[in-house]
Amino acid sequence: MKFLTTVAVLALSTSAALANCDPGETVIKFSHVTNTDKHPKGIAAALLQSRVNEEMNGTACMEVYPNSTLYNDDQVLEAMLQGDVQLAAPSLSKFEKFTKKFRIFDLPFMFVNMEAVDAFQNSDAGQEMLSSMERRGLVGLGFWHNGLKQFSANKPLEMPGDAAGLKFRVQPSDVLVAQMQALDASPQPMAFSEVYGALQTGVVDGQENTWSNIYGQKFFEVQDGITETNHGVLDYMVVTSADWWDSLPDDVRGQLGTIITEVTQERNAAIAEVDAENRQAILDAGGVIRELTPEQRGAWVEAMKPVWAQFEEDVGAENIEAAQKIND
Ligand code: LMR
Repeated sequence: MKFLTTVAVLALSTSAALANCDPGETVIKFSHVTNTDKHPKGIAAALLQSRVNEEMNGTACMEVYPNSTLYNDDQVLEAMLQGDVQLAAPSLSKFEKFTKKFRIFDLPFMFVNMEAVDAFQNSDAGQEMLSSMERRGLVGLGFWHNGLKQFSANKPLEMPGDAAGLKFRVQPSDVLVAQMQALDASPQPMAFSEVYGALQTGVVDGQENTWSNIYGQKFFEVQDGITETNHGVLDYMVVTSADWWDSLPDDVRGQLGTIITEVTQERNAAIAEVDAENRQAILDAGGVIRELTPEQRGAWVEAMKPVWAQFEEDVGAENIEAAQKIND
């Protein structure tokens, strides 16, 4: 790579951070859908890029394409299997068509906080999930945190009944569809890049997402307010194609794998801070955040918890039990 300083790479925030690769370097295209400034995935991808381009200069060269500029999450895994992109980090909900085991992360109120999510992902059950899609040609290289999800709508949401009859954008996931049906709401699966427009024009009334996505996509600007429900988790799997990964020379694969692991540990350890910063940024920009009383929160739990039974067979009762033990 023609040398770009870390600062210069991080400064290329809104458009693709192209690295100006040299002939002979293995080009690693990393495509993702979020913004980069303040965003857990954007920050981690920029750090990964700067480390690869400094430490593997002459061998490998990473280009990052954020903001759905190359592919959206519906397209990226197919593109990866075709060899058109080498790395991505879609949310765990997007892997549902490859393995139903990941549905555990979408089940409402499965994890009490991000420490519990982290512990589950690092347990044997979690680590096995990274290799669960190998027969479909995909290899997981690590879990990246984003955070817990909150609901927002074009009217105040205090009790679960307030969501009844409203249209909510959800990620394409059967569990999230069932979750909204449990609230008597109408789930509308939709690509991330289309959500702001859909909220603005009233195609949907509400949505669920994390602080960083609500801030980064400015959803709060076109909603009445956000209710701090912390009802689900939105995390990522860094994924590559098994064919491409296996084709790398051992030393290159080893060095890249080590950098990915170190970036994963460093950025996951900072997640509470990044989430709090995004929550605060919403307030600073004039967004409304509603906190729930314990009674109100209990009502949301009661309304959505029946969804677990619907998917117990897919995710494995033993995994639900393991997750609950970690919560305790
Ligand atoms: C979404 O579709 O809402 C998220 O998965 C986007 C993301 O990558 O955080």
